[in-house]
Amino acid sequence: MNTTVIPISASTPYDVVVGRGILEQCGELIKAVSEPCKVAVITDDTVSELYGEKVIKSLEASGFSAEQIVFPHGEGSKNIETLSTVLETLAEFEITRTDLIVALGGGVVGDLAGFAASVYLRGIRFVQIPTTLLSAIDSSVGGKTAIDLKAGKNMAGAFWQPQLVVCDVETLKTLPKEYFLDGVGEALKYGVGFDDNLFKLLAENDFDNSIEQIIVRCVEIKATVVALDERDTGWRRSLNLGHTIGHAIEKCSRLSITHGHAV
Ligand code: GLY
Repeated sequence: MNTTVIPISASTPYDVVVGRGILEQCGELIKAVSEPCKVAVITDDTVSELYGEKVIKSLEASGFSAEQIVFPHGEGSKNIETLSTVLETLAEFEITRTDLIVALGGGVVGDLAGFAASVYLRGIRFVQIPTTLLSAIDSSVGGKTAIDLKAGKNMAGAFWQPQLVVCDVETLKTLPKEYFLDGVGEALKYGVGFDDNLFKLLAENDFDNSIEQIIVRCVEIKATVVALDERDTGWRRSLNLGHTIGHAIEKCSRLSITHGHAV
């Protein structure tokens, strides 16, 4: 496995593993942080169709027993109703405190599954497997989990760090261009705020060749910021560059303008 491992120094330390084609080895990677146990793979309908079976097979090959919890894709699902359904399903599956949640998908899945992990049985372990650029470089790292309220985005949530983040760059190939550009919008904040070379790399627009390097650099920057300010009381606010106006644009467009484009 040719991977880059970026350590995250948070209250619960963990690694972000970035590589190509590593989804098939996710069971093996997860086994390094957990004894075989029951796993609830929380995902959306689009991602389930693309990668659900692959992840379940890999987990089973490594001795885990795994089932999927699938909800409709899109920001419209990131609410208290979906959270409630997910929590009830975890209970139906008899997931215990020593079991594991895997969040397989983009930011909506990661935020919602992470929040479910933080409150189910007062907190169980979870692993992030981001499948969008935006979630790979930002939302899967750093332990922010949330759902939206009618009053606004991410208004109920918790800081809850994953045990591991597995980022398979190959999964970005199935991303529609619009969603890929969403991630580029988010990556620009790291370039503008922290790293001239990253900004230049983004401006070169040669993503086929540079995407892995871009992801690794963005995660390295995020790792530095999270280590300084895990609970978002100072330094971490710099990661919100463009987000105040961005969230306002998303809200005024009734979510028809996506997060990264708004930022
Ligand atoms: N997405 C901003 C942060 O994680 O703080």
